Amino acid sequence: MIPGIDHIGIAVRSIAEARGFYEALGLRVEHIEEVPEEKVRVAMIPCGDSKIELLEATSPDSPIAKFLEKRGPGIHHICLASSDIAADDARLRAAGIELLRAAPTAGAGGTLVQFVHPRSAGGVLVELAQPRAAEPAE
Ligand code: CO
Repeated sequence: MIPGIDHIGIAVRSIAEARGFYEALGLRVEHIEEVPEEKVRVAMIPCGDSKIELLEATSPDSPIAKFLEKRGPGIHHICLASSDIAADDARLRAAGIELLRAAPTAGAGGTLVQFVHPRSAGGVLVELAQPRAAEPAE
C-alpha cells in the first residue's frame, strides 16, 4: 500500500548552495547522509508530512552526476511511501511494470527502496521507500 508521498528528490550541484533557498522559507535540513551504493550525498528537509531530498553526486560516475550533465539541476524523482515494499514490488512486476532493481535495496535513512523505470511511469522516475521499522513481521 502507498500511504503517501515520502519525498521529492531534487538533483543539485551543491547541497551547501541549494539548501539556502529552503532555509529562506523557514525549512531546515534535518540531516545529511552519504549513500555509497548510490554515489550520492542526500540532505533531508522535512516539509509537513513529506520531505524534500537534495541529491549531490559524490563521484563523476554517480547517476546524479549523469543527470546533471544531461538536464541540469531540477526534480529527479518522486518517492512514494510503501507500507510493504516486497508486496508492492511483486504487484508491480506482475503488472509488467519495469523495476530498476532485482529486489529492494538499502536507501537513505535506513529505508528499503526500489525504483520504477520512467518508461513505466509516464516519464517520471518513481522511488518506493519503506522505513525499516515498518518491515512486516515474517
Ligand atoms: Co529519494
